[in-house]
Amino acid sequence: MSSPAPHAALPPTPSAYWLTFFRTNADTPDRIPWADRPTLSPAEGAAVIASVLEFQLGESSEGRHLRDAADRYALATGDAAYASAIRLFIREEQRHAAYLARLLAAEGVPLKGRTWADSVFRKLRHLSGLETAICVLLTAETIAQVYCAALRRATGSRVLRAICRRVLADEAVHVRFQAERVAILRRGRAAPALLVSIALQRLLFAAALVVVWLNHRSVLRRGKFNALGFWRAGWNSFEPAAEWMDPRRYVWEGDVGAAA
Ligand SMILES: [Fe+2]
Ligand SMILES: [Fe+2]
Repeated sequence: MSSPAPHAALPPTPSAYWLTFFRTNADTPDRIPWADRPTLSPAEGAAVIASVLEFQLGESSEGRHLRDAADRYALATGDAAYASAIRLFIREEQRHAAYLARLLAAEGVPLKGRTWADSVFRKLRHLSGLETAICVLLTAETIAQVYCAALRRATGSRVLRAICRRVLADEAVHVRFQAERVAILRRGRAAPALLVSIALQRLLFAAALVVVWLNHRSVLRRGKFNALGFWRAGWNSFEPAAEWMDPRRYVWEGDVGAAA
């Protein structure tokens, strides 16, 4: 693993910034041309609908476990802005789910109640506290960036392409928001324990890439990925997040004087 870049020695972004960002982003127009009909061609529909149904399900969580974990964290640390930011983050995910649900409704496709992959993902998120929940979410969000880019290439639908564009923009911010919090939670962790956390995260990511390829390859192939290309794009998406997750890349308040 490469060591953290010395030029990036800044503190993590404060929660107050994220709170302001999510408030502003919620008011940013989505510019999705909903009046366009029909949305998907029959060939596109056959290739993408089953996959989009599962993606929609993944985006539609109520986020109760995450919200409770963030509340406990805020209480313990006094970082109340983080608990508020998490609520707005959950609302953004629900907005993504609503976009996809609206598209599927326009196609006359009923939403899915549950799939095995979604159930496993939810169980993993609920295994433990805030750090585990965020790490599992980060896995999904870094892969979602690759998936959405492929989905956008896979369709000529202006509606679906606009949805992908907005989701991609939001997810890029989510990844940084979540990854920096992981670094905050891992601050001061001893090197061996930190290495175990990083190895587990990479293992989970590799497994998730395989599952996503198997479950969504019709979209991914249509979006110009073969298995190897998807694997590489996945890790390219993961690496910046891995660096933001690393507490050793930041300067921490109180450390400056101590280091001098
Ligand atoms: Fe999302
Ligand atoms: Fe997200």
